[in-house]
Amino acid sequence: MAKKTKKIAVYPGSFDPPTDGHLNIIERGAKLFDEVVVAIAVNSSKKPLLTIQERLDTLKVLLKKHRNVRLDFFENKLLVHYAREKKATAILRGLRTVQDYEYEFQMALANKQLAPEIETVFMMTDSGLSHLSSSLVKEILSLGGSGKNLVPPLVEKIVHQKFKK
Ligand code: PNS
Repeated sequence: MAKKTKKIAVYPGSFDPPTDGHLNIIERGAKLFDEVVVAIAVNSSKKPLLTIQERLDTLKVLLKKHRNVRLDFFENKLLVHYAREKKATAILRGLRTVQDYEYEFQMALANKQLAPEIETVFMMTDSGLSHLSSSLVKEILSLGGSGKNLVPPLVEKIVHQKFKK
């Protein structure tokens, strides 16, 4: 019998910081794919709040319970090239609101043109999480708001520490 190929998806993003919305997509994606590679994209034109190491350290703890989720980062390369290196056949993205749609559609089309063999798979964010974004979280936490139902306590702690500095 032919050997079954592993279905690998890359879940790329800035994760600055990782939110409950990201974790929701990862958790559900891990049930659909044999392996999900959570890939932090290093964007040198953005000034992130958390360093790559901080994002890796935090996500490592948060994703520990998932046996089929790997954690990685990439820089100075196209997402589709990275996905090919990982032998992924899918790019996983979460969709929250209609505002996301245009940007995501454009990216998915460009990625498809660059690598037709890789499919972008969209997952609707669970209700109750659709308003969540890393920018919103940063604004709330920077002004002393609570991270409850926005980010895991570990992320809230790190982000609060950052803003105290
Ligand atoms: O969490 P984000 O910031 O919405 O993620 C955007 C990301 C990282 C998926 C996108 O910027 C990306 O794919 N960057 C890698 C460089 C690349 O391939 N750019 C062309 C995309 S069509």
